[in-house]
Amino acid sequence: MRIGILKETQKGEKRVSISPKIARQLTEKGFELIVEKDAGIFSSYKNSAYKEAGARIEKRDVVFKDAQMLIKINPFNEEDLKLVTKDHVLISHLYHKAKPELIEKIAAKGASAFSMDAVPRISRAQDMDVLSSQSNLAGYKSVILGAYEMKKILPLMMTAAGTIKPARVLIFGVGVAGLQAIATAKRLGAMVKATDIRPETKEQVESLGAKFIMVEGANGESEAGYAKEASEDYIRRQKEAVNKSLYKADLVITTAGIPGKKSPILITKEQVLNMKNGAVIIDLAAAQGGNCEISELNKKVTVNGVKVIGTSIAPESVSTNASELYAKNMYNFIKHLTKDTELKWDTEEQITDETLIVHNGVIRK
Ligand code: NAI
Repeated sequence: MRIGILKETQKGEKRVSISPKIARQLTEKGFELIVEKDAGIFSSYKNSAYKEAGARIEKRDVVFKDAQMLIKINPFNEEDLKLVTKDHVLISHLYHKAKPELIEKIAAKGASAFSMDAVPRISRAQDMDVLSSQSNLAGYKSVILGAYEMKKILPLMMTAAGTIKPARVLIFGVGVAGLQAIATAKRLGAMVKATDIRPETKEQVESLGAKFIMVEGANGESEAGYAKEASEDYIRRQKEAVNKSLYKADLVITTAGIPGKKSPILITKEQVLNMKNGAVIIDLAAAQGGNCEISELNKKVTVNGVKVIGTSIAPESVSTNASELYAKNMYNFIKHLTKDTELKWDTEEQITDETLIVHNGVIRK
């Protein structure tokens, strides 16, 4: 099997799907690797490091021509598709439910495509779960970004010139990113509170030393372990429960999502107007519509002294670690799909079945 590693072309993207360390592990397993020139440059991986790992460095069109399997992080785009043929197997995020037109174009080429964002949330797929590995870093980085944007420090500080009280941090949504944000803010000395529609997250929040804000009647877990869409009544009761903490918070991080749907608005403009002067909101759900009514993706908006930052680019800003983890997820996924370096196409098996979106030009999902 010849695997091609493509350079990401999406604006702002700094990651690469395979690191030199994983390139070596793949070549040692018998895979042939063709890496697009400078694919790893923004993750601090040199072409020479891939060469030392046994990979070939080639120009983009040669990678498309020589490789059978093509790997990226972001979805294949129009430019990529011009070079895709029926013999290619594509692996990337595809967001197939949100991007049916992309899936149709891949199918029209007669190619096959696996989607990394469709890896099921089951125990045996945990080491292939790119959504988790990347959100974990996003949770960490959101606190660092918030700390940088704040005009206060996070920890308690006792000095001869007086005592500084610890900052108050409030987290909405305790999934993978939210949990890591809690852990990071606690490590930095802040007083942390969090809330989630899934009541079972209470224990996880408390095990990290933070306080859980329980909303009466929360029962938000779907069968797949994800959140269900909240009712209007729940959103109203949530506001009543969190407003006291929200209006005292110095830093708010929102991560609430419902897979395949627009993110719920959990902080309205009216609530922002009641927040403390100088408070900062980092809205990690901005790419899915945002949890704060006034956040805009990749923008800083200041309203009544409250800075609202809509972002989703946290993993890119720690691209070396993000690529390292993504690459390990990819390695486990490729190992899972193949036997003696050839694809098994075992569509009876759950991980293969759920991730194989197009097979030889036929749309499966
Ligand atoms: P996500 O990014 O879809 O959502 C983040 C959080 O927002 C979730 O905890 C969700 O309950 C919460 N949320 C949604 N609507 C809300 C609302 N109206 N108010 C307050 N909170 C709201 O979640 P993520 O990080 O992708 O994880 C979702 C679940 O999947 C978690 O239970 C996690 O433990 C589980 N999981 C399981 C894995 C496995 O077994 N392989 C791997 C990763 C996650």
